[in-house]
Amino acid sequence: MEKTLQNFGKQCESAQTLGRGIRVSAQRVLIAGVGGSAFAGDVLRTVAQEADVYVHRDYGLPRLGKDALVFAVSYSGNTEETLSALQQAIQEKRPVVGISSGGKLEELCLAHHTDHIKIPAGVQPRNALGYLIIPMLNVLEENGIVGKQELGGLRKELEDPAIRKEGKRIAALLEGKTPLIYSSERMACLSYGWKTRVNENAKVHAFAHRVPELNHNELVGYTKKIGNFYTLMIRDREDSTRVRKRFDATKKMIEELGGECCIVDTRGSGLLSRVFNTLHIGDWASYELALRYGVDPEPVHVIERFKKELGS
Ligand code: PA5
Repeated sequence: MEKTLQNFGKQCESAQTLGRGIRVSAQRVLIAGVGGSAFAGDVLRTVAQEADVYVHRDYGLPRLGKDALVFAVSYSGNTEETLSALQQAIQEKRPVVGISSGGKLEELCLAHHTDHIKIPAGVQPRNALGYLIIPMLNVLEENGIVGKQELGGLRKELEDPAIRKEGKRIAALLEGKTPLIYSSERMACLSYGWKTRVNENAKVHAFAHRVPELNHNELVGYTKKIGNFYTLMIRDREDSTRVRKRFDATKKMIEELGGECCIVDTRGSGLLSRVFNTLHIGDWASYELALRYGVDPEPVHVIERFKKELGS
């Protein structure tokens, strides 16, 4: 996985040629997928602010938004929830584009003359964010659904050695603790992305929540902590003044109640680069945490075993 993480900037650069030349017409966008593939939808919703983006993590498709462009996204192309969404989209003649590295999703698209974007195979879905999201951005940009995306300087920013260093620092804070990871509602993909990376790379529990909602429930849990937690708050410079105030007040209260907490600021030029850079810190933090726990960050045997059991 180390090599894959080192190549993440390169992946984002090479993905810029994917998904070109597809013609669609839609005002709204629906991403159907689960796990690492659906997560690309969460990131799209965060960065493509001018578009109306929904993420659907279930079988089939929601009844609402029949006019929305559906991206059926499955890195492997063999995930049953996503295949069922694609089948429904085809059946109901909804505008749909499939994205996968192959698998049944590609076969289904080919059989029904549906647009399909084939992305490179060979990495874990959570490490394929560039391949999963950039083609969607390309389709939306080329069809005037979102404005021009600033992807030019992304590779250089992602290759900054400070990102790995920051990940290593955070891994040291988290070792032996259960991470509680927070970000603002508008940047919810950051806390959720870090949580799932810790789950799948370091193979331990981690939980995510959002400001301001957590101030109305989770914060109370610090009164009688059962467990050894470490709270990480990911703050963005464009979070509103009131939300930023809540970050400081939340940290103060957690510490007063005896908890451990630190605030991590997003880094980067534009919104897209801040999201990618911060998720990449989460990649390295969870990778380094895996090394500290003596587990292989790459395979997710539990997910594979679960899918197999369900299949039988
Ligand atoms: O990270 C993982 O391996 C999972 O979360 C997968 O992304 C999830 O099981 C869905 O598989 P796929 O992305 O191939 O559709």
